[in-house]
Amino acid sequence: MKPKVFVTRNLPGAALNRLHDICEVDIFENETPPPFEILKARVQDKDGLLALLTDRVDGKLFDAAPKLKVVSNYAVGFDNIDVPEATKRKIPIGHTPSVLTETTADLAFALLMASARRLQEGADLCRTGGFHTWSPSMLLGCDVYGAVLGIVGMGRIGRALARRARGFSMEVIFCGSERTVDTEIEGAARVPFAELIRRSDFVSLHAPLTPATRGLINREVLSAMKPTAVLVNTARGGCIDQEALYTALHDGIIAAAALDVTDPEPLPPTHKLFSLQNCLIVPHLGSGTMATRSQMAHMAVDNLLAGLSGERLPHCVNPEVYGD
Ligand code: DGY
Repeated sequence: MKPKVFVTRNLPGAALNRLHDICEVDIFENETPPPFEILKARVQDKDGLLALLTDRVDGKLFDAAPKLKVVSNYAVGFDNIDVPEATKRKIPIGHTPSVLTETTADLAFALLMASARRLQEGADLCRTGGFHTWSPSMLLGCDVYGAVLGIVGMGRIGRALARRARGFSMEVIFCGSERTVDTEIEGAARVPFAELIRRSDFVSLHAPLTPATRGLINREVLSAMKPTAVLVNTARGGCIDQEALYTALHDGIIAAAALDVTDPEPLPPTHKLFSLQNCLIVPHLGSGTMATRSQMAHMAVDNLLAGLSGERLPHCVNPEVYGD
């Protein structure tokens, strides 16, 4: 008998074909995520679940799926999953680290550059007929060259961003979790969070969303930033207090923000952040290249198949399930 798996969305590339050979595959073919009740119903008789970051995977879901042996998340982040609940039930959780590092760092740097040089405003001006003549003071931005970049969270993506910044002659400083002991990484100096916030011309977030990082960038932190500073977020929307960000951007407390991620996602088009010229928002594109998304799919399938056959997942977020 083939194991039964539920895949919550179609994935780019050929990885899912590998599943079809081995498993009985049920795919949610819609463009939007399955509502929780549908997810629960479809996973009820399944041995494996391949989930996306838009799917809530928690105790209620596990209760509804007594046969579930493995959950493979098609993302490096796993804040959509109640990992302690999974661990309690000895369900290994897979994720897709490393393959998306460079691609996500590319997007973070693209957002940084786009904000620094006011590309969104410039493109809007051209499109709406507002560009009448070259003007000495039109849409003046800020230099990236020589500026200070503060990286919050010096994991794989933070380090990849630091490498890019070096090529642009930026001074890079970082702060990380208490587990990061190095005082220098990729030519970047470790500084306390408060110093990073005070000194940076660009602050880029690369920390996972946890209780400690939820709302990390709040009113107080934004007030401590330079009035010329730009905030970039390719991590998770929940790391920023968006109400405070709106006020900071509106009142000129900081210069600009570029967000790949928001909370909720998507933001309703009527959200007041969209009314600000100095806020660039894109739809969670960090890992969005064909090559990377298909490698992520292969990694997610590897994790799923390993879990179904009782082997250790190649990329497991809760190795405690193996008694480690
Ligand atoms: C992730 O993997 O966590 C990104 O947010 C999407 O690729």
